[in-house]
Amino acid sequence: MAIASGLPMHVGVFPHDAETRSQFAVNFDHHPFSFSHSLHENELFSMPALIELGRRAMSKLNRSHHESGDVTVRDYFNAPPKGVSIVEALEDIESGKYWVILKRIHEEPEYKKVLDEFIDELSDLTSIDIRGDYYDPITTIFITSPNRLVPYHMDGEANFLSQIRGSKFVYLYDANDPKVLSEQDLERYWTGHFNAARYPEHLPEGTWSYYITPGIGVFNPASFPHWVKNGDAVSVSVSLNVKRRKNVPLSVYRTNYYMRKLGMRPKSPGRSSGLDAFKHLAFGTPYNAARNLRRYARNHFGI
Ligand SMILES: [Fe+2]
Repeated sequence: MAIASGLPMHVGVFPHDAETRSQFAVNFDHHPFSFSHSLHENELFSMPALIELGRRAMSKLNRSHHESGDVTVRDYFNAPPKGVSIVEALEDIESGKYWVILKRIHEEPEYKKVLDEFIDELSDLTSIDIRGDYYDPITTIFITSPNRLVPYHMDGEANFLSQIRGSKFVYLYDANDPKVLSEQDLERYWTGHFNAARYPEHLPEGTWSYYITPGIGVFNPASFPHWVKNGDAVSVSVSLNVKRRKNVPLSVYRTNYYMRKLGMRPKSPGRSSGLDAFKHLAFGTPYNAARNLRRYARNHFGI
């Protein structure tokens, strides 16, 4: 793939040429790929702007997370350090061992334009109606101290991880490989067990590995496990992500989780399209609606 080379036809979030367009069209929401972006040139993601965002996040519910100390690839998320505010962690990011997450940044007026532009360009590059077929687009920013790891985990969103400052190795694993995730792991993850992915000791470092630097990013399909090794400088990455609105396999995993609890041996997704459709309509759709309502209440009202 030509990364930021040649004459781009348009410079927005994703400078692109015909080859890039084909990468997006073929791989989006299915397969990892690297891409170029222009977000590292945007002052909204400079360190002074991020400290200001951290200051704003401190007075809001569930808009940030920070943790400190050494972690291994087999660890999970930790509680914030006592007595260190998010702004203090950001100010000490160079010499500390922090991982700072600024959440739902697109809700800040000046950042909304970036997400809107991302959605417009993604729709154009994939020929998919992203606003219609996907929901809850989110911008998240990760700021990490030099050399700190982000442990092995999986996420439920289709994620464009875009490097702004510093560098990192991203190790991605194939969610469709039963040696990476069993069917029961997927059932557990989609029913709220967020640490369901267990580090596959027997596999090499990632089914794929990507080295991303400012202006380069990697697309991480939903539920593909990953871990990250940051370089020897402060790292800033922006995540732009969306969730698929109609997701039949996800509904089947959720239904099967509870069927298994009842002692049944449910059919895997993809074995019977009629049964999958029934599980999606009868259980998956109401489950998803209730879950989204719960998430909204937690994010906006703290309940
Ligand atoms: Fe992640």
